[in-house]
Amino acid sequence: AKMKALLLLVLAVGFNVQYGGSSMYSSCSESPLNWCSSLDSAVECGVLKSCLQSNFSKSRQTEDLIEVGLYYESLCPGCRQFLVLMLFPTAILLQDIMAVKLVPFGNAQESGTTGKYVFTCQHGEQECLGNMIETCIMNMSQIAYPIIFCMESSSDVVNSAKACTGIYDPDLSWDKVMGCVNGPLGNQLMHQNALETAALKPPHEYVPWITINGEHSDDLQQKAMTSLFSLVCSMYKGTKPAACGGSQMHYQNYCQNK
Ligand SMILES: *[C@@H]1O[C@H](CO)[C@@H](O)[C@H](O)[C@H]1NC(C)=O
Ligand SMILES: *[C@@H]1O[C@H](CO)[C@@H](O)[C@H](O)[C@H]1NC(C)=O
Repeated sequence: AKMKALLLLVLAVGFNVQYGGSSMYSSCSESPLNWCSSLDSAVECGVLKSCLQSNFSKSRQTEDLIEVGLYYESLCPGCRQFLVLMLFPTAILLQDIMAVKLVPFGNAQESGTTGKYVFTCQHGEQECLGNMIETCIMNMSQIAYPIIFCMESSSDVVNSAKACTGIYDPDLSWDKVMGCVNGPLGNQLMHQNALETAALKPPHEYVPWITINGEHSDDLQQKAMTSLFSLVCSMYKGTKPAACGGSQMHYQNYCQNK
């Protein structure tokens, strides 16, 4: 039995050396977020079928996407909990039928004038900085939501921002982000957030404040906080995606155990 175990070990090590570090689709070097972005990467990563199906359902469904709006502030614990544990996972599962709109401002206050707005945040200056970084990243990156999820799910929202950006959008220069944060662009973008938050009807009373297709009610808020997934699936009027259940379509990809 010892010999057999040893032999297995040698085989296993040999296998590891031979195939060490590379997967079956060794040319797949993109992150999963980009697998469907081109035909080439879909083929290289072995996910062509699911990309074509997902692209097809997206092209059919863009018109009546359910838009989930989140009015929040970067350091409010309830906001972070909703964003990290509910909104982001749901947005991934229901990406074909759901759009997300994030407005970081919440209970902040604005004073000053054009070009020189001054912002005061409920949880202090760090929160204003977090709001501003997230706002700038949404303006500058195609991969903003994973970066914001990464920040909000880390123990230090603001200090994780640079590393999170490096992980998900290595091509985005951190200096450029900080240029926005400390410059007129950030000031202008945050002013837009202030205006959008002030324009809410009914006006927000707390954060996280959720809108569905631009509407807020106690009932929608309650349902979104309890199970956003069920709410979006139930409100969606088109053909429900497989993730909502009840569909016979299966297009998961498996890595075979050889
Ligand atoms: C999916 O759609 C995008 C945008 O329309 C397109 O650029 C991409 O090539 C498509 N991917 C595949 C695998 O067809
Ligand atoms: C970034 O902000 C500028 C200035 O408000 C705006 O013109 C531009 O459309 C924004 N870009 C994106 C991708 O949101």
